[in-house]
Amino acid sequence: TKAAVIFDLDGVIVSTDDCHYKAWKRLADEEGIYFDKEINHRLRGVSRMESLAIVLERANRPYTMEEQQALADRKNAYYRELIQELTPEHILPGVRPLLERLKQHGIKIAIGSSSKNSPLILERLGLADEFDAVVDGNAIKNSKPHPEVFLRAAEKLGVPAAQCVVVEDADAGVEAALAAGMRVIGVGTAASNERATWTVASLADLSWEDLAKFLAAV
Ligand code: BG6
Ligand code: MG
Repeated sequence: TKAAVIFDLDGVIVSTDDCHYKAWKRLADEEGIYFDKEINHRLRGVSRMESLAIVLERANRPYTMEEQQALADRKNAYYRELIQELTPEHILPGVRPLLERLKQHGIKIAIGSSSKNSPLILERLGLADEFDAVVDGNAIKNSKPHPEVFLRAAEKLGVPAAQCVVVEDADAGVEAALAAGMRVIGVGTAASNERATWTVASLADLSWEDLAKFLAAV
């Protein structure tokens, strides 16, 4: 079997960080809860409800489960408003040529994302039909750093975990990939993660020759 590549979505294929930030910030401001970019950074790769729990660390009163669900829904409505604006031009540099190369070489590609909004985002980017498998927040019980999302993607592709390479921008995602027994390329904010098997600042910096060697070295 050939290697397969599993891409995280947020922060790897498209930068939705600012949309998440704006949506959480709007919610937090309305609730009178302090929120900043540093707190936002802790939400990378983390599920919506776990993100909310982090946001609520700064709340000055407890919220019931019903209230928490309503807050998460409200944040998501704000977020979906913002991601409606995404277009294929928002695909991050280096992504398209890389997907094309992988396809040319018959290497399977998948999405492994914690986001329940993955279908909408992929559709807005014009990438809805580009991947051999998509496993997202709607399909999993345990979010990263649990390996479930990547193991499910490998299963769907029919490729053993040891032959899968994950591309991740979040520390939680790097841990999830390692826990799945996969090698992981850290990009963006994970480019400084020493646990990653290999790191690049941006997928635009990844030479096909180097990547091909890395994929073959299983
Ligand atoms: C991840 C993002 O991909 O998805 C997180 O990195 C986000 O920041 C998580 O919280 C869940 O997203 P959603 O779209 O299901 O609220
Ligand atoms: Mg990410």
